[in-house]
Amino acid sequence: MNTVVKKINIENICMDYINEAGNILNSGGLVAFPTETVYGLGGNALDKTAAKRIYQAKGRPSDNPLIVHISSPEELKDIVEYIPENAGKMMEAFWPGPLTLIFKKKDIIPYETTGGLDTVAVRMPNHEVALELIKAAKVPIAAPSANTSGRPSPTKAEHVIEDLSGKIDMIVDSGSVGIGIESTIVDVTSEIPMILRPGYITRGMIEKVIGKVCEDKVVSAKTLEDIGEKGYRPKAPGMKYKHYAPKAELTVFEGDIEKVIAAINEISKTERDKNHKVGIIATDETINRYEGDIIVSIGTRADESSIAKSLYDILRSFDSEDVDIILSESFYEDEFGCAIMNRMIKAAGYRIVKVGKDEI
Ligand code: TXA
Ligand code: MG
Repeated sequence: MNTVVKKINIENICMDYINEAGNILNSGGLVAFPTETVYGLGGNALDKTAAKRIYQAKGRPSDNPLIVHISSPEELKDIVEYIPENAGKMMEAFWPGPLTLIFKKKDIIPYETTGGLDTVAVRMPNHEVALELIKAAKVPIAAPSANTSGRPSPTKAEHVIEDLSGKIDMIVDSGSVGIGIESTIVDVTSEIPMILRPGYITRGMIEKVIGKVCEDKVVSAKTLEDIGEKGYRPKAPGMKYKHYAPKAELTVFEGDIEKVIAAINEISKTERDKNHKVGIIATDETINRYEGDIIVSIGTRADESSIAKSLYDILRSFDSEDVDIILSESFYEDEFGCAIMNRMIKAAGYRIVKVGKDEI
């Protein structure tokens, strides 16, 4: 299949391209498009064949449900059974934006879209190109992140091209996304809403609006043991799969920063002595402190959003550099930092080295 790439400038949106992309979606085709979090791979959420195509293009297990994207809150009532009061308050506070809510679905949403569940995940993205595209499609748009299943999510069109070129009809390129990690997911079908995936909208921000919320244990898990008994099924099925993983083994170091730097340098030296190519993820503050083959800054600790923005790009860049091992600092600055670390720890397959005061 020939995949067309269309550049759409967010400052000056070309409606011809939007309409072309909207028609593809409306007639069952697939279009990757930017949102404020990551690029999504869109298809008609009401069309089970389109949903199947999405799973196929991504190589995604079909029990992992898709998020449905709408262009205005009014469209919600057509696809969900009811809107709980807490959900209304959150929509008011955070939509359009990086917050996905889980509702009881109406029959119009096929089980192919929800991975067999009776619930549906919905969000209204805060990105003009995405909103115009959904409007032009005239249907709600199912869109998982536009990466091959298991790889880091795409934060620019080049990442989508890498993974999906030849497998989908069109890629809309509007440059780099603003946030860089996927939306917060909250299940509002239970009495006390539950965070299933952390993101830019933090627990603290949500509690200010609706009071108490709880969290699925995968949200803050740092080890496989934290997730608990073997076979525990996260409420968001996608959280059980290996994710965001670069090809090389990533290890995250946690603890006092001076000890972390020393530990990373020590392991870097051992690995390089074995002729292994070592990649190191540092920050602006520490980049000059390391010795390795490829040393990159992920951003500054003074601004966590800079770290979120470049996380997936950096993980992908190590793949093209063919490094053998990646060593990284950790970034638990505040609640958003915890969301960033949720992704990083999964990318590392839970390989975390705790560098204590008396160790190393
Ligand atoms: O920011 C985002 O949310 C991006 C952009 C493109 O909007 N999308 C995204 O989709 O991250 P995806 O498919 O990569 O992740 C969707 C997550 C999965 O972990 C899935 O299991 C969960 O949402 N999910 C979807 N529907 C659900 C449901 N009905 N119940 C529980 N979890 C659900
Ligand atoms: Mg994804």
